[in-house]
Amino acid sequence: MIITVDGPTASGKGTIAKALAARFGLPHLDTGLLYRAVGWQVMRNDGDPDNADDALAACDFPDELLTEPELRSEATGGLASQVSIHPAVREALFTRQRAFATQAGGAVLDGRDIGTVIAPDADVKLYVTASVEARAERRFAEMRDAGREVTLHDMIADLTARDERDTNRKDAPLTVAPDAMLIDTTSLGKDAAIAAAVDAVKAAL
Ligand code: C5P
Repeated sequence: MIITVDGPTASGKGTIAKALAARFGLPHLDTGLLYRAVGWQVMRNDGDPDNADDALAACDFPDELLTEPELRSEATGGLASQVSIHPAVREALFTRQRAFATQAGGAVLDGRDIGTVIAPDADVKLYVTASVEARAERRFAEMRDAGREVTLHDMIADLTARDERDTNRKDAPLTVAPDAMLIDTTSLGKDAAIAAAVDAVKAAL
């Protein structure tokens, strides 16, 4: 069984994907982490994330990089969004994601283009969204708890910029697959959001 969970930053898609993986006994891949690793590696190479060649060279990152805590920072998220517009980067990461999606026994993957590009043949597709204010508040609270200095105002600006870039890029933009089930988490707590997703998966099986 392949379950795809797409949606914008801080919509709750990662939390939902992790919970679905545990509930249905499936491996989980956070595909955003791959783009974050590329963004991070470009910086480490003193490259330019807007330059396609620099970004492609960074796709060759070592697996250990995926455990680097700085990959989770807002700054790295912005870099990930920049490198993700290059078709060559998306192609380089495609095979890795596709292999994960099609492994025996199934998988849960979350990202932006999983139900549309990586696994259009998935058994269940979810699109998780929430208002930009709700998402910024969540991300702000997470960052504050992690001791990072951010303001809510900056967080809203950052998410808006990322949404715009992810939605308007030519290659594999963030969009709702026609056969995806929509979950709006704006006024749902974590448990209610997970319950809605579990119900959606059960209904689709
Ligand atoms: O989900 P996360 O915030 O970790 O993703 C970071 C960035 O990586 C996104 O803003 C998006 O530009 C890119 N991304 C993507 N396709 C995916 C997952 C993430 O383009 N499947």
